[in-house]
Amino acid sequence: MKNKYELIYEGKAKKVFSHEDVDKVIIEFKDDATAFNSLKKARFEGKGKLNCQISAKIFELLINSNIPTHFLELKNENTMIAKKIRVIPLEIVLRNIAYGSLCKQTTIKLGSTLAKPLIDIYLKNDELNDPLITKDRIELLNIVSAKDLDSIIGLTLEINRILQKFFKNIKLQLVDFKLEFGYDLKNNLLLGDEISPDNCRLWDLNQKNDIIVSLDKDRFRNDLGGLIEAYSEINRRINDFI
Ligand code: TMP
Ligand code: ASP
Repeated sequence: MKNKYELIYEGKAKKVFSHEDVDKVIIEFKDDATAFNSLKKARFEGKGKLNCQISAKIFELLINSNIPTHFLELKNENTMIAKKIRVIPLEIVLRNIAYGSLCKQTTIKLGSTLAKPLIDIYLKNDELNDPLITKDRIELLNIVSAKDLDSIIGLTLEINRILQKFFKNIKLQLVDFKLEFGYDLKNNLLLGDEISPDNCRLWDLNQKNDIIVSLDKDRFRNDLGGLIEAYSEINRRINDFI
């Protein structure tokens, strides 16, 4: 992007630039992909554009269901304008089906449906490898108040209800996802980051047998190939439905 805008922050999959309005930022979605805390890296031409478009549609869906989010509008194919937020350094993962790290760290059977959604909270800290964190440690480190942590958990459960229903309509199973929250300049708690196949596990429900077909970043994590095809399929189903 042109240097009219100042780069404020660069993450693994996004760049955040200043905006002429102090309470807004411009978020550029990159084509880079990382997994396992950057142990694995690759570039997928067109991923940034797809994740930006998918995220925008999902944020709009959530905003229409009264979920407060940072999303304001799309700027172009791979950039969006969002409210500027102070990101809370927590990664909130909600799981409907046991997969990924839950199955590596416990004895739960891969692919089992959980009786109720499980929320796992991780400290957002690359140097520490994003460790799983407890409520008491969050309080100890003064990361967020107990009241706001309750609000974050309540919002995450509500987002799960909205997204599960939405994805089911487009024949996708929402296995798990990761959210990040933050505060805008008026200290309102908002959903931030992105909601895309980079941070959701989505399985194709259009399968006759029981085989798992991942249409998400597991295609890269697990060397399955066809990442852009999978993300394009999700984008296509969303656009056909909305
Ligand atoms: P996990 O099974 O590896 O803990 O991942 C759970 C969900 O969180 C999955 O949808 C992928 C997403 N996730 C991220 O978005 N960022 C991360 O750094 C990690 C570890 C997981
Ligand atoms: N976001 C994480 C990383 O960079 C990993 C993941 O999504 O699995 O490496």
